[in-house]
Amino acid sequence: MQTALLGSSDIEVTKLCLGTWNMAKGGGWGPDDDEKAIALIRHALDTGCTFLDTARGYGGGHAERLVGQAVAGRREEVVIATKAVQCPPEQLGNEIEASLDGLQTDYVDLYICHWPRPSLPLEPFLAEMVRQRELGKIRAIGASNFNLEQMSIASEFGVVSLQPPLSILWRIPDPILDFCRQQNIALTSYSSLAQGLLTGRYTQGTGEISGVRSKNALFSDDIMPQALKVAERVDSIADRLGCASSQVALAWLLRTSGVSSVIVGASRPEQWDENLGAFDVSLSDQDYEELDRAGREVWGKVAPDAAMWGWKPE
Ligand SMILES: NC(=O)c1ccc[n+]([C@@H]2O[C@H](COP(=O)([O-])OP(=O)(O)OC[C@H]3O[C@@H](n4cnc5c(N)ncnc54)[C@H](OP(=O)(O)O)[C@@H]3O)[C@@H](O)[C@H]2O)c1
Repeated sequence: MQTALLGSSDIEVTKLCLGTWNMAKGGGWGPDDDEKAIALIRHALDTGCTFLDTARGYGGGHAERLVGQAVAGRREEVVIATKAVQCPPEQLGNEIEASLDGLQTDYVDLYICHWPRPSLPLEPFLAEMVRQRELGKIRAIGASNFNLEQMSIASEFGVVSLQPPLSILWRIPDPILDFCRQQNIALTSYSSLAQGLLTGRYTQGTGEISGVRSKNALFSDDIMPQALKVAERVDSIADRLGCASSQVALAWLLRTSGVSSVIVGASRPEQWDENLGAFDVSLSDQDYEELDRAGREVWGKVAPDAAMWGWKPE
């Protein structure tokens, strides 16, 4: 599988990363049970993926424990990213120890601030991240859901990656993109398939949306009809190219400058395998730009600082 370096670090990651949020219980999606989740992670590794994304917040450590079980005996093959929401700096050590325990490892490759907490100053937290890196508990520091001002602070502390929501249908402001490209900060996109909206499985006739997607702004009554029109354009490009819609959506991200790895969730090995086919899809400039324009229009309807599920820490 194609690989890239994580920003200025020496950590090499595959350009497709398996996400594990849907392996936490209760979202009404993802693998049917823990055994299938573990088998799916192992399947991804067996097909060449070496990059896994998880978080303490996914089922209160449940997803981390599944990752730990799945990679037992092959830890050195894998780059593990995990995250915690910004907390008082003195609590960070305990957060990391809990992650290490769940993951059955003594180091995290990429430790990410899952969400900044605007009521707390960022600098002491990031300084503690640096200290944890010096202690050898983590190899590199990442950010997620940061705005430009927060990224500019984070860059002073050696942050090597930003994990934003990013897909044809959900963008980050150009100044953040430009900043990351200029500073060699790797972008790792999340919700890359817009939680399945870009896979051809949703239509204008789809009934009530349940589970985690019911809180996603892209599935709201205001936005979903227009988002589906963009998804139909993805479908028609996929038909013309003789590939799956998900592959077009992921190929679009793989072609986006600055994106080092595309994080994608799957509930079954077949979905993962289909998504892997994105590497074989080559989009023309015209197709890339058509999807770029169409997706931007949808995203333009979402408030510029909106969180995808309407929640962010205070
Ligand atoms: N940093 C953050 O704040 C943050 C936020 C969100 C996500 N993430 C990370 O990004 C990862 C991926 O994000 P996500 O799960 O929100 O969105 P996603 O990857 O866009 O969507 C994953 C879901 O799409 C469906 N799917 C995947 N491949 C498919 C295919 N080929 N055909 C049809 N359906 C397919 C599956 O739904 P079903 O399970 O229903 O089959 C799967 O669970 C997460 O696991 C997590 O690691 C990070």
